[in-house]
Amino acid sequence: MTRGWQITLSDDASRAELIDLDSTTLAPPDLGSDVEVAVSWSGLNYKDALAFAGNRGVVRTSPLVPGIDVVGTVTASENERWSVGDRVLLNGAGAGETRNGGLAEHALLDGSTLVATPSVFTDAQAAGIGTAGFTAMLAVLALERHGVTTGDVLVTGASGGLGSFAITLLTRAGFTVTAATGRPENEARLRALGATTIIDRSELDRPSRALESQRWAGVIDSVGGAALATTLAQVQPFGAAVACGNAASPELATTVMPFILRGVALLGVNSSFTPLPLREQAWERLARDLDPAVVDSVAEPIELELAADRAAELLAGRVVGRLSVRVGAGAASTHPESTSPEAS
Ligand SMILES: NC(=O)c1ccc[n+]([C@@H]2O[C@H](COP(=O)([O-])OP(=O)(O)OC[C@H]3O[C@@H](n4cnc5c(N)ncnc54)[C@H](OP(=O)(O)O)[C@@H]3O)[C@@H](O)[C@H]2O)c1
Repeated sequence: MTRGWQITLSDDASRAELIDLDSTTLAPPDLGSDVEVAVSWSGLNYKDALAFAGNRGVVRTSPLVPGIDVVGTVTASENERWSVGDRVLLNGAGAGETRNGGLAEHALLDGSTLVATPSVFTDAQAAGIGTAGFTAMLAVLALERHGVTTGDVLVTGASGGLGSFAITLLTRAGFTVTAATGRPENEARLRALGATTIIDRSELDRPSRALESQRWAGVIDSVGGAALATTLAQVQPFGAAVACGNAASPELATTVMPFILRGVALLGVNSSFTPLPLREQAWERLARDLDPAVVDSVAEPIELELAADRAAELLAGRVVGRLSVRVGAGAASTHPESTSPEAS
């Protein structure tokens, strides 16, 4: 038996319960599940919180084990990329949406979507980084690919998981970072991550003109809506904004002026279906650039039993940084308090 969370949808309701799952529930047979993983850690992302709330845009099959992040050790493999004992991780690729995810002690996964856990990180740290850190890394890579390699970059939704990692990764990459937040009490924390300027989100969350003062070489946006429209009007010529999230709104009402008069680019990130070579590039760069101690300061480890309660807090905007979830038996030795990462 495998202990794990299960979300069940019915006609007009949803139920989340922590139960003993049997192996047939764990692995619908038609999903290319060729690697079995003993899950040590997972995480709670905004999407996972939506799953706990029964959001049908996220819970695409029922019953479903939530958890878009999976970290653990291979226990059986029919995939030539992986052997028993390999440390692996997964961000997205349908986990916790169209197939069972990380919030259960075992996962049956498609080996072609897995990445080797970098040896510099414990399993707890890999989950602490999770989709939030992975997406922040993809956003920095997107800016760099577009030629934005220096200057002031704005991070919106700065106190969140994605925003927190974006600040530290941008700083490490040599940018100066302005953090936009609705929670000014987090200023010291945002400065410790590397932000040099803090602005209130209300400065951006307003109707904007087609073009405004040129302020940002780049933008990493978690919130969408009016804030993204305002920042687009403020991006410097040939700069870029990366749209990562919709914590405020999925809407975007803008004009073509930033694009046709300033050559601004609007870039997208979809962490869930990022092709494997880019996944591996992002995790290699995270291993190089992200100080494990910073991960420990951003990620709060919680127990599996608390996932539903903390998901509700996350949806209410009351979580700072990121939540990693201790799932399985292997989790103890890979707790963030452990000082020496285990070998890969
Ligand atoms: N594209 C992808 O592949 C991808 C991957 C991961 C996440 N996402 C999306 O990115 C967003 C952030 O994810 P996350 O895991 O970092 O979530 P999170 O930890 O909940 O952070 C979201 C942050 O946005 C800000 N915020 C919340 N509600 C807001 C509102 N109504 N108006 C303006 N700002 C608001 C808050 O920051 P402050 O308190 O500092 O303002 C909050 O901490 C979510 O929409 C998520 O779905 C997308």
